[in-house]
Amino acid sequence: MTTRPTNAFGVFPEPGTVIAGELRRVPFVDLRAQYRSIREEIDEAVLKVLESGQFVAGEWVERFEEEFSRSVGACYAVGVGSGTAALELALRVANVRPGDEVIVPANSFFATAEAVSNVGAIPIFADVDASTLHLDVSSVRSVISAKTRAIVPVHLYGRAMDLEALQALANSRELVIIEDAAQAYGTNIRGVPIGASGRLTCFSFYPGKNLGAYGDAGAVTSNDSIQAERLRLLRNHGSPRKYEHSIVGTNSRLDAIQAAILSVKLRHISAWNAKRVCHAKTYAKVLEGSLIRIPEIPVNGEHNFHLFVVRSNERNALMDFLRHRGIETGIHYPVPLHLTEAYQALGFPGKGTLPVAELLATEILSLPMYPELGDDELDYVRTALCEFSDAGDKRKKMVRAF
Ligand SMILES: Cc1ncc(COP(=O)(O)O)c(C=O)c1O
Repeated sequence: MTTRPTNAFGVFPEPGTVIAGELRRVPFVDLRAQYRSIREEIDEAVLKVLESGQFVAGEWVERFEEEFSRSVGACYAVGVGSGTAALELALRVANVRPGDEVIVPANSFFATAEAVSNVGAIPIFADVDASTLHLDVSSVRSVISAKTRAIVPVHLYGRAMDLEALQALANSRELVIIEDAAQAYGTNIRGVPIGASGRLTCFSFYPGKNLGAYGDAGAVTSNDSIQAERLRLLRNHGSPRKYEHSIVGTNSRLDAIQAAILSVKLRHISAWNAKRVCHAKTYAKVLEGSLIRIPEIPVNGEHNFHLFVVRSNERNALMDFLRHRGIETGIHYPVPLHLTEAYQALGFPGKGTLPVAELLATEILSLPMYPELGDDELDYVRTALCEFSDAGDKRKKMVRAF
C-alpha cells in the first residue's frame, strides 16, 4: 500500500495546497494541471472521435502518425499500444531471434530489458557512464559475444545520447542499434532529432511522459518503408487486410482517442519542453556549488528534462526531508535491472558487477518536474533544497564528488 500525505479527511490535497502553516503539497508530476490548461481542445478532439465511432486505427491514428513523423523528421511513424510494445515490435523487425543477446543499460526502466526477454532474446546488462548516465560504450564492448545481435541505448531522463561511438562499435561488429527514446521526445543531437536517425526508435506516450497520452500508447519511427510496413503488420495480428494474416503478429494498435489526444498535445509540446528546461535551470542555479549534485544542462535541445535527477550520497535523508515538507520525489530507478528480482531469479550476475549503475541507484533522486510547476512551488522546493544543503555543509566531508 502506498502512503501519501492526506489531510484530516483522508483526502490527498490539491497541488499547491498549504497543508499546515508553511507546509505545501508539491506533487512530483501534475497531470490534471496540464489537462486543465488544454481542456477545451482535448474535450473537442475526444468528442469528435466518439462521434466518429472509429475507435481503433483509422483517420485519427493516421493523422497522428503523419504529424509525429514530421515532428521528429522521420519518414515513418507507426503508432502502437505502448512503449514496451514499440520495443518488442522493433526488436522483431530487426530480426532479433530467440537466444540472441541484446545489450541494454543497467540503469533504465524495466521495460527496456523486459521487451528483449519477451521476444525470447537474452538481455545483457552493461554499465552506464558516470557523468552522462547513458550506456557506457566501453562496458558494451566488454560484454559483446558471438551471440550479440543488437544494442538498445536509452535516452535516459530525456537526455539524448550521442550515439556516434556506439554506432561505430555496432558497425564494426555488425550489430543493430534500436533506440529507446521513451523519455526523449523533442530532443536532438547536433540538430538531428531523436527519431530521425534512420535507426528504429521507440517512443512511449505513457501519461507521465513528456508527451503523454491519457492511457497507454507508443510509436516506432523508421526511415525504411519495409520496416514500417512490417511494424504495421505486426501490431495488427499480421493482417494486411481483414481476416488475412501473412505473419504472426500481435494486437498492439494505437487507439483513436489516444491518437487524437496526442495530436492536440503535439501543438503544445515545444512550449512544455521549454518550460521544463526553464525549471531545470532554476533548480541548477539553486543547487550550483551545493552538496546536491546536478545534471549537466545542455543548451541545444539535447535534454527535455522529462526528469530532473540529482545525486546525493545522503539521498534517503534528502528524500525524507522533502517528503516531510510535502514535496514528492521519485527514484529512477531504485534497483539496477540486473539486480531486479526477475533477472536474479533467472540467474543473472549479481551485486558488484556493474558498479556505476549500482552506486547510482543509491544516490539518485528525481525532483518535481512538469511544465505547469508554478513559481510558488519552485520557490518552495528551492527553499527546502537550500535548507537541506546548508545543513549538509556541516557534513561536507561525508560527500563524494558527482
Ligand atoms: C526508458 C523506458 N523504456 C520503456 C518504457 C516503456 O514504455 P510504456 O510504459 O509505454 O510501455 C518506459 C516507460 O515507462 C521507459 O521509461
